[in-house]
Amino acid sequence: MERVQQEDFDQQDRIEVRARGPLEGSVAIGGAKNSVLKLMAACLLAEGTSVIRNVPDIDDVAVMADVLRAMGVSVTRLGDALTIDCPAVITPEAPYALTEQLRASTAVLGPLLAGAGHARVALPGGDDFGPRPIDMHIAALEAIGCRFEISGGDVHATADNLVGSPVLLEFPSVGATENVMMAAVRAKGTTVIDNAAREPEIADLAGFLNHMGGQVSGAGTSTIMVEGVDELHPAEHTAMSDRIEAATFLAALGVAGGEIILRGAQPDHMAMPCRKLGEMGVRTSSDSEGMWAMSNGRLRSADVSTLPYPGLPTDCKPLLVAMLSVAEGVGIVTENLFSGRFRYVDELVRMGADIRTEGHHAVIRGVDRLSGAPVRASDIRAGAALVVAGLAGEGVTVVSDPHHIDRGYEDFAGKLSALGADVCRVGHLTISRGWFSDRFWSPDVRRVRPVD
Ligand code: UD1
Repeated sequence: MERVQQEDFDQQDRIEVRARGPLEGSVAIGGAKNSVLKLMAACLLAEGTSVIRNVPDIDDVAVMADVLRAMGVSVTRLGDALTIDCPAVITPEAPYALTEQLRASTAVLGPLLAGAGHARVALPGGDDFGPRPIDMHIAALEAIGCRFEISGGDVHATADNLVGSPVLLEFPSVGATENVMMAAVRAKGTTVIDNAAREPEIADLAGFLNHMGGQVSGAGTSTIMVEGVDELHPAEHTAMSDRIEAATFLAALGVAGGEIILRGAQPDHMAMPCRKLGEMGVRTSSDSEGMWAMSNGRLRSADVSTLPYPGLPTDCKPLLVAMLSVAEGVGIVTENLFSGRFRYVDELVRMGADIRTEGHHAVIRGVDRLSGAPVRASDIRAGAALVVAGLAGEGVTVVSDPHHIDRGYEDFAGKLSALGADVCRVGHLTISRGWFSDRFWSPDVRRVRPVD
């Protein structure tokens, strides 16, 4: 019996982390998950073959590929390039089995309405951050002529004539801005989106739409103008670099110390995280390869408040909380975007962190050292934050459910260990899935909740 349990543990997929010396060397930062997923959806706007480069080999991209395939689109991968071949007629439906795994699959709504004139997309539901409504997507699309009905857990949408119109977003929602941009690009007339999200991923998407023959201007500011065109054509595009992956390695550096180069990182997209990290003692600067960073000595505490871009990204927050756990002094963290984004705090407390949460706030009193413990990843960034915390743990930290991390990070453990960290993936079964590398791909592993 004991042996069976030991064998079960040996096979359990997990990441093991131990504290070691400082990090050194360079790490390649991949293409931005949050951009690539929308670029893939945008390919639905044009019949023919589009190519997206700098695509990370992560599970969310694989699920989005499945969403497109369910519609009759061919998606193939060669190296870091995805070739997406969209036929003249597609099935404009995204089933629940896929949308429950990837909330961002709602990004197909706008392109389907613009191209096919109708769409049926299963509502993705809430997640570990709290409720994730799509009311702003719907209001924005209605403003340009779409009609919606929600029944049986599905959104049924139709658009006989998309008409360019003023769209005022109640909040600068990233997803709503992207959806309305992708529909308005084929509307009759001009759409002006006010209070638009300003994230760099929005500008990346606008660049791709313009490569396809669209006329989008102002992306990256809070007013975006979209002149509708009659037709779009397939295009090639290189996705921007992942600013959250880059911030994750900076957090690891802060905790472990050392000096690293982040190849391909785009510091111009990371002004606020770099400012906050600077306050805490991590120095960064632009480098011909991307970004240089150094950290030595104990981190200092800082107060952190998440905001839409150019404010501090909510996706960086768990990483900063991990850093503050071992920083000198007390830091107060305020979450302004998602109601329930503190679940991983209990896991950090199990590692000896001194954190109190109250509503949208967490008060973190830095301790000298964390202690390694078994902990569970509950979403992409929370999982990454636990690995980062493990770099400052006495003994071994075992992060279970690392499939959450696989959703957004390509070979996270491998990249950290190449920088000299003592991090390894254990019990990771690999079964060939045909085209998407060799990651473990059983239905059980794919039953993860949509988060980022
Ligand atoms: C995107 C990112 C996610 C990031 C977030 C905020 C992707 C795949 N995900 O998510 O990693 O954390 O931006 O930078 O790009 N809201 C509504 N109604 C809506 C839409 C949003 O109430 O119709 C609320 C959300 O619940 C949340 C806030 O608005 O509280 C921000 O959401 P939004 O900017 O839309 O984030 P996502 O696009 O879902």
